[in-house]
Amino acid sequence: MEQIKVFTRAAALLAAMAAGGFWSAGAEAAGGYDPMARPVNPMAPGTSSKPDVQLNPELGNLPDTAGAEETFYLCTACHSAAIIRQQRLSDARWDYLWNWMVEKQGMPEQDPETRETVLSYLKRHFSSQR
Ligand code: HEC
Repeated sequence: MEQIKVFTRAAALLAAMAAGGFWSAGAEAAGGYDPMARPVNPMAPGTSSKPDVQLNPELGNLPDTAGAEETFYLCTACHSAAIIRQQRLSDARWDYLWNWMVEKQGMPEQDPETRETVLSYLKRHFSSQR
């Protein structure tokens, strides 16, 4: 049962990535199934915890939902998006990290609306809680 679940997740992720232009050669060649495709580990760091969401290669492969653009332009001023993608943090930890970035790393504080947009984006996709 667990195996079937994992497989379904992997398949969904693969479909999402193919649709997003990843491994487009394989997807074009076989019209879906590619026997040479590398197996995908949905639990690997750097993949979204929501396999039904496409990753946007123009936004550092962040999941392409509302807030992705704001997060990308704010957070990659100093470091790569990979440092974000590999996180699985609690909501409280994201709040803490935001303040830490502002107070210790010199990130400019944002207006409340932007702060809410980016933080809820981070909590949605890079959470240890959901
Ligand atoms: C002004 C520069 C700056 C901005 C803007 C910035 N960061 Fe950082 N961030 C840093 C630096 C510098 C480090 C590494 C600090 C260290 O490891 O000593 C870091 C580290 C991190 C880490 C790793 C923390 C850890 O536990 O090692 C995460 C996650 C992170 N940033 C997320 C974000 C997110 C999300 C945003 C956007 C909301 C953001 N950062 C914006 C400077 C910045």
